[in-house]
Amino acid sequence: MRQSTRHFLSLLDLTSQEFKTLINRAISLKSNRDPDYQPLKGKVLAMIFEKSSTRTRISFETGMIHFGGSALFLSPRDTQLGRGEPLEDSARVISSMVDCILLRTHQHKTVTTFANFSSVPVINGLTELLHPCQLLADMQTYLELRGNIENKIVTWIGDGNNMCHSYINAAKLLNYKLHICCPKQFQPNAEIVKSARHQITFFDTPTAAAKNSDLVVTDVWASMGQEEEQKQREIAFADFQVNTEVMKQAKPDALFMHCLPAHRGEEVSAEVIDGPQSVVFQEAENRLHAQKALLELLLK
Ligand code: CP
Ligand code: NVA
Repeated sequence: MRQSTRHFLSLLDLTSQEFKTLINRAISLKSNRDPDYQPLKGKVLAMIFEKSSTRTRISFETGMIHFGGSALFLSPRDTQLGRGEPLEDSARVISSMVDCILLRTHQHKTVTTFANFSSVPVINGLTELLHPCQLLADMQTYLELRGNIENKIVTWIGDGNNMCHSYINAAKLLNYKLHICCPKQFQPNAEIVKSARHQITFFDTPTAAAKNSDLVVTDVWASMGQEEEQKQREIAFADFQVNTEVMKQAKPDALFMHCLPAHRGEEVSAEVIDGPQSVVFQEAENRLHAQKALLELLLK
């Protein structure tokens, strides 16, 4: 185990300056794609997905190909991980053969344990606690469309989940004001909130929270692994939809973001997600560019 190995398990593994440099680099990689630029030639990324993925899988795999490397898709069903081989042993073995490991899993402790025993960088591709890769793309998208996000108002409506926690961490690094509006029993993690308490204001209703916002964000009411709670969550979140009435409270040039996949008619109305303020597809595409910048930072 190399103590100096650099991992990306949380946005807070980056300094504020590194985060800003990374999203600027992502913009530059997006606009000047040079097929001869192959900084990761011969390098291999192992991608372990214990949950489904469209964007994360495709963007990392494509990013590695663009950079001259390759990516291995590993599902626990087809590896010994799914049959109970200890994480510590798996991390040692896999990291002895590849240059970087992406892990999408349930408990955050799984990625931290994995990283402790990996001799190569480990990237958090989503846990129940955090989804840091998505924020690289979201902040790139805001910068491209509206410039510096510092001192702007970002409003989070819905579940106090992994995406909400990642917006809290980004607020710390980029110094925006974060309005949070979640049902009482679905508030974000208190420790994470405490760490950014100067940036955060809580609201009881989505319309109050969205007032004067520059960016409104939401996510599904039931995340992966919570499918059985879907019906009960639909009741709890019924008043927490981002719809035209909510967007009307925000600034006229406010953007709407959602990490996708989305459920139209639940957390967001079709009118909003398919409307002119929505930038969800630019956000999705930027996963590719932002993660190429991340791979460069960790591996070059
Ligand atoms: N937003 C996101 O991470 O999408 P996938 O689940 O498709 O990877
Ligand atoms: N909160 C969602 C994000 C999906 C990209 C989930 O964890 O399922």
